[in-house]
Amino acid sequence: MPLFPENALFMAPMVDLSHVAYQELVRSFSGCDILYSEMLNARIVPGENPGSSVYLKWTRLDDLIFQIAGNDLERMCGSAAKLNGFSPFGIDVNMGCWLKKVTCHGWGAGLMRDAVRAQAVLAGVRRVVTRPLSVKMRIGYGLDMQAMSDFASMLVECGVDFIVLHARTVEDGMSRRARWEYIAALKDQVSVPVVGNGDVKSARDAIDMFARTGCDGVMVGRQAVVQPWIFRDIKALLAGNEPPEPPPVMDVMLELHRLLSLHFAPDVALKRFKTAMAWLSQNLTFGHHLTKNVGREKSMEGAASCIQRAFGQGIS
Ligand SMILES: Cc1cc2nc3c(=O)[nH]c(=O)nc-3n(C[C@H](O)[C@H](O)[C@H](O)COP(=O)(O)O)c2cc1C
Repeated sequence: MPLFPENALFMAPMVDLSHVAYQELVRSFSGCDILYSEMLNARIVPGENPGSSVYLKWTRLDDLIFQIAGNDLERMCGSAAKLNGFSPFGIDVNMGCWLKKVTCHGWGAGLMRDAVRAQAVLAGVRRVVTRPLSVKMRIGYGLDMQAMSDFASMLVECGVDFIVLHARTVEDGMSRRARWEYIAALKDQVSVPVVGNGDVKSARDAIDMFARTGCDGVMVGRQAVVQPWIFRDIKALLAGNEPPEPPPVMDVMLELHRLLSLHFAPDVALKRFKTAMAWLSQNLTFGHHLTKNVGREKSMEGAASCIQRAFGQGIS
């Protein structure tokens, strides 16, 4: 049986954004097949418990992949075994995070610089994970297609079920255009499904990525935070239909506000709402003013009133 549907759509892992409330918001529009958690530090997962932890919160597990970050074999295996025990859709090992504060520990893309350790970690994690296992990686250090393929083939030999490629090099960071030709090249090289990621900025971009790379799935990050309904629109295009009208932005903001209040303590909810507003307000012409004003609010109630006031005054 295939791991996931044809032309599968994935919501990317994003720190401070891929939480239960955003997941619920994205699911409410439908169209997204699999959602990733934000990266979970293998040093802290063993001490966290569902319910009390801000990180281990969910309403559904059948479409959720927990992403772990780290490079210590024992901690990675311990975290993977613990998360696997909750029976999520799957587990992912982060080999793509480019930030210095992550790679300096040898985590994230740091593992792409140390293939021996990456292999040991993945083989260990594979032994304890009974669910589908993915790795989210980058092209690598530099633009070497052969090195990328060799690294990915090593992951396949370790038993990874599919690979997500964020089509940038580590040096690229988040700059330049994503290099989709590397997604096509990886798809040609490995026997497992490949999910493409990077710079899908509209529903039509996702269709283009499928067509130009032959990838098995498309993962959307930033644009899915701005437009949590993008997956619905991509599915409409895949079915040969025009995407529906976008939902009213105020309703989307207030729904996220409600979901955050439902799942988090007020201080955490407010912090996360302010983070989200910087993205959701990109749907508005003068959205940065609204983000700034919400940023000054001291409570969730104040944040909601601020939004209602702005729309009442005609922001669009
Ligand atoms: C705010 C933010 C947080 C991110 N956090 C993670 C993370 O926790 N794990 C990860 O593998 N990638 C992370 N990424 C990278 C995204 O998953 C994705 O690869 C990247 O944004 C490119 O996709 P996009 O162009 O669709 O946004 C993050 C990106 C952003 C913008």
